[in-house]
Amino acid sequence: MSEKKIYLSEAEMPQEWYNIQADLPAPLQPPLNPGTGQPIGPEDLAPIFPMELIKQEVSQERWIPIPDEIQRIYKIWRPTPLHRATELEKALKTPARIYYKNESVSPPGSHKPNTAVAQAYYNKAEGVRRIATETGAGQWGSALAFGTSLFGLECKVYMVKTSFYQKPYRKILMRAWGAHCIPSPSSETKSGQKILEEFPDTPGSLGMAISEAVEDAATHDDTKYALGSVLNHVILHQTITGLEIKKQMKIAGDSPDIIVGCVGGGSNFAGFAFPYVKDKLDGKDLQIIGVEPWACPSMSKGSFRYDFGDTAQLTPLLKMYTLGHSFVPADIHAGGLRYHGCSPLVSLLVDQGVIEPRAYHQNAIFKAALLFAETEGIIPAPETAHAIKGAIDEALKCKENNQEKCIVIGFSGHGHFDLASYDAYMDGKLKDYEHPAEKIKEALEKVPTL
Ligand SMILES: Cc1ncc(COP(=O)(O)O)c(C=O)c1O
Repeated sequence: MSEKKIYLSEAEMPQEWYNIQADLPAPLQPPLNPGTGQPIGPEDLAPIFPMELIKQEVSQERWIPIPDEIQRIYKIWRPTPLHRATELEKALKTPARIYYKNESVSPPGSHKPNTAVAQAYYNKAEGVRRIATETGAGQWGSALAFGTSLFGLECKVYMVKTSFYQKPYRKILMRAWGAHCIPSPSSETKSGQKILEEFPDTPGSLGMAISEAVEDAATHDDTKYALGSVLNHVILHQTITGLEIKKQMKIAGDSPDIIVGCVGGGSNFAGFAFPYVKDKLDGKDLQIIGVEPWACPSMSKGSFRYDFGDTAQLTPLLKMYTLGHSFVPADIHAGGLRYHGCSPLVSLLVDQGVIEPRAYHQNAIFKAALLFAETEGIIPAPETAHAIKGAIDEALKCKENNQEKCIVIGFSGHGHFDLASYDAYMDGKLKDYEHPAEKIKEALEKVPTL
């Protein structure tokens, strides 16, 4: 019988991150200054990011060494196990082999500390005292609170209002790691005040919370900004997961035919998938599926063009799949997937047909998540449940067609702080939201034309 869990020793943990910018099939369009329409330079980003992260953002080097201090901290929870989902396979009666890379074993419970620790390290190394950030479901905020506490930095978190009230334990977790978390939009920033004046009852969105955190960093000399997804350096740090999977697959004597992950800003998915994207570009027959909610379908229904990363138009323009920076997604429970845009790197690969987008409604993903919990035991985060639903559908296709494919799921986090959403699902109280075509059209009309 094959092993249920495949572990790597600490000595086998990858010592370099993989930078896909060295291997892209088409050029990545640069971020633009919204005032001039010209590509931005490092000096434009220096007020909000440390220089080492700016260098990583534009680096064309294929391999970037992971500093020893980051490796030392990664070893608190890394390498993470790759599990064979034997019990789920049995329940589905599928001939497919299903594996999941379990990032839920990190102290905050998700993949997010892979970059939170790295970003805290580079900020500390450049003398930064305080970091401001946004968070959706609270996974990123708690991961950054964990990272900043290890490096003795102050941390301020603007948490999307609807999640702040849906998930009160996430903010207690941030507090326990020494961070200060407030609901966004707040009256503490100019952009928050402006949004509240116009939309006093807004549930908030990642786009709004980003505006507040960027403004906080830009208006405090001792403060920089940290983003939990979307940008190239964040994705770079996440590639440790895909690099570990490659080693673990070798031990299992197997190789994926299908990789499936959930996509909010795109960082966990890119981290799992990008080391395999290189193989696909080199000719390997591989299906790479990114799953998003129908309530916020940036890849499936958005437009591939330049747009702001935030609501208040404070960020540079990024070439990405977008629903429009003013689009406010419905109040679904997968708070980490309520983002109007999608990482430029993931967007480029969707545009090139390398990555296949897919979307589901929230009742369907909770049903899949409960089947996973009943069979494999772990309660997935609602975001992660999108990946599980995608994998279950593929495994059922394998059953129909009698195909023994190997499916790998990016299991981005557990749902222990999302139990209220499971309660609502089991009580039949969750609504599915059709993507509001009119609202998307309206929001896309506000996207700048270049
Ligand atoms: C568990 C989990 N998975 C996925 C995501 C989506 O983010 P990304 O697309 O950057 O991985 C989040 C974001 O909060 C998350 O908490």
